[in-house]
Amino acid sequence: MREVITLNEFIFQSQEEHPEATGALSSVLRAIELSAKMINREVNMAGLVDIIGTMGVKNAYGEEVAKLDDFSNEILIKSLRNCGDCCGIASEEEQDINIFENELSKKGRYVVLMDPLDGSSNIDVNVSIGTIFSVFERISPIGELCTHEDFLQKGRKQVAAGYVVYGPSAMFIYTTGQGVHGFTLDPSIGEFCLSHRNMKTPWKGKILSINEGNTAYFSEGTKAYVNWCKEIDKESMRPYGCRYVGSMIADLHRNLIKGGIFIYPATTKSPEGKLRLLYECNPFAYLVEQAGGKATDGQVDLLDIKPTELHQRIPIFIGSGAMVEKSMEFLEIHDKRNVEV
Ligand code: AHG
Ligand code: MN
Ligand code: MN
Repeated sequence: MREVITLNEFIFQSQEEHPEATGALSSVLRAIELSAKMINREVNMAGLVDIIGTMGVKNAYGEEVAKLDDFSNEILIKSLRNCGDCCGIASEEEQDINIFENELSKKGRYVVLMDPLDGSSNIDVNVSIGTIFSVFERISPIGELCTHEDFLQKGRKQVAAGYVVYGPSAMFIYTTGQGVHGFTLDPSIGEFCLSHRNMKTPWKGKILSINEGNTAYFSEGTKAYVNWCKEIDKESMRPYGCRYVGSMIADLHRNLIKGGIFIYPATTKSPEGKLRLLYECNPFAYLVEQAGGKATDGQVDLLDIKPTELHQRIPIFIGSGAMVEKSMEFLEIHDKRNVEV
């Protein structure tokens, strides 16, 4: 019989390889895993029970919060508070940081930033959605309440990042800086099992993922790159295929495996792009770099950007290294933008 390695076993084995590890990061990852199983259960039920729909309240960006967004946010907060190794969280669904004030959590070494449910506009059409997370070691002293500074660290300082896709199968993909590993949920035993060890993304891909409906709002550089992708050139495998689900998690999961570029650029309507640096871009930038790809804002590596606010948005060019580098050449020639790093 083939040997099965569960996510829990894998986390434990990886921890054993680091004698200095205390097990605290493992406990944070396990809390996220537990929440993911519960969210997956609800997502699977979404078509059956009256949980779909909106609550009539808006999130930090003034967007309507679907019920499952809210449920996912609550579940993650509860399990992270209970695990004792996390001293606070920041979430796309919360205006401010959520500081865990209980004595156990105050001793926690880590903070977690998350998009509890990404792609939520796709819930009611039964398309893949997911949870994105990012873990940092706190800067504030252990034993005290965590502070904003703990959350506003450069992406390069992440100690773990990952995502869970709720698709035809549920998958948990994460990195702690030793490669990217993917686990598929076996519903018969209720465990995520290792299915994709040390994932690598192709350096050259042939998928372009961008919301081309926004072309009228793109910069000259972005327009020129998109046009270049559509030209015929056998050697560079152009024209590329266009694939855009509208769930970042689904688009990036596909591109990570098959090779491609995902772009959410600055537009005249949203000069800083749409996606959030802390909850969406940083975790994926870390994962994609670990898989051998690249992630930039069009000018610099995303992981080197010092965040200034919790809900900061940022343009993103992410995926196969050769494709991201090429897109940056077009931006360099056609656009002039200044970003403080
Ligand atoms: P969320 O559901 O967390 O608000 O995120 C939606 C995001 C992202 O998943 C996706 O890539 C992007 O919005 C799509 O935006 P457009 O509809 O503007 O293309
Ligand atoms: Mn999102
Ligand atoms: Mn979301």
